[in-house]
Amino acid sequence: MKLDGFLSLPGDKSLTHRALILATLAKGASKIYNPCSGRDARSTANCLSQCGVSVIEEPWGYRIDGAELSNPEGILNCGNSGTAARLLTGFLCGQGIQATLSGDESLSNRPMGRIIDPLRHMGAFLEAKDEKLPLRIDPLELNGIKYQLPIASAQVKSALLLAGLGADGATVVTDPFHTRDHTERMFQALGLPVKVQGNKISIQKLRGPIEPFEYNLPGDFSTAAVFIAMATILEDSEIMIRNILLNKRRLGFLRVLERMGSNVDILMEEEINHEIRGDLRVRGVRELEAFTITEEEVVDLIDEIPLLAVLAALSEGESEIVGAEELRFKESDRINSIAVNLNTLGAMCRVTPTGFRILGPCTFKGGKVSSFGDHRIAMAMTVASLVAESSVEIDDEECIGVSCPEFSSLLLALLED
Ligand code: S3P
Repeated sequence: MKLDGFLSLPGDKSLTHRALILATLAKGASKIYNPCSGRDARSTANCLSQCGVSVIEEPWGYRIDGAELSNPEGILNCGNSGTAARLLTGFLCGQGIQATLSGDESLSNRPMGRIIDPLRHMGAFLEAKDEKLPLRIDPLELNGIKYQLPIASAQVKSALLLAGLGADGATVVTDPFHTRDHTERMFQALGLPVKVQGNKISIQKLRGPIEPFEYNLPGDFSTAAVFIAMATILEDSEIMIRNILLNKRRLGFLRVLERMGSNVDILMEEEINHEIRGDLRVRGVRELEAFTITEEEVVDLIDEIPLLAVLAALSEGESEIVGAEELRFKESDRINSIAVNLNTLGAMCRVTPTGFRILGPCTFKGGKVSSFGDHRIAMAMTVASLVAESSVEIDDEECIGVSCPEFSSLLLALLED
């Protein structure tokens, strides 16, 4: 079995949320081409449309007519998306909107205190039982604050920067962890009053509407990573992934793969809208070596850890990931989801206080594994299934649709016997 062919992917999920939100600030119609087609991005689009913005889905993407936002009629349902919930909360606080945000069962168990505390410091009125969704926002004037991120979260940073667009004075966020920087890059691309000095980002209140814009989004790197993992372990594979987001803060996965002995080449790179994009070629390899991921590296590959765990189980030696506690607060408790599934498939995975150790190489046996309702776990298990001795049954693969509904058809188009 091998993967062979060309792959183009729908737009990056992180970029799609941000582009949708910022398009509401423009006077006139903005166009977002090649957006992420997953349910997460749709949650953001639907919430914005409930706030009085015209969000029209076209065959090529979204047309958004920015307007003064209004209080939504019903509850804003963020579905499974932590990015939707956190970024919209910050943004709507800054826009003086009264709203209640909710989410599905997984999202309703994820921590919101991390945005509630600093937003309250800015003057926001927020109510949420046990710092979880549902969360109610009542409109109050915001003031800019100086804030140093206590945890490595781009969602927290972005919530504050988006709130800052409506806050008096400057909002200054210091990010000692160097989390993904898409929000500040998109602010720069759209000409918003942002200043980036080292790890300090400051944004001033926006004094009027912005210019409508057109943004053709590069493919989602985290979905590409799944195909990169598959092509790497199926030795005879060769795939080309075109027009993919190659922001440095997202490429930790490729840096680890390189240490493992993978065969991935960046063929072309260009910068558009302050983001790097390009083409990749991935060829399969016979063997992979174990790796160690340090605490500082985790932030650049946080969403790719389920994939790296699968690769670790197939690699020669003991791999270790430390400093990855944030995985416990994702769509599922990913430290648990990974360990349970890998051990079900016959791998040797041991949970440690901040991550896990995996001893390889193993041959995966077949069996029943769980997605734990988490798209990234389901996709990682699909990777394992390609090299398992017998069939691997994944419950609820449907959850993959939160980020990439086209996943199985894209895979089928590349798979060859
Ligand atoms: C995201 C940031 C990351 C990531 C998530 C998307 C974003 O979350 O895991 O999938 O778009 O800002 P945290 O910032 O909470 O780590």
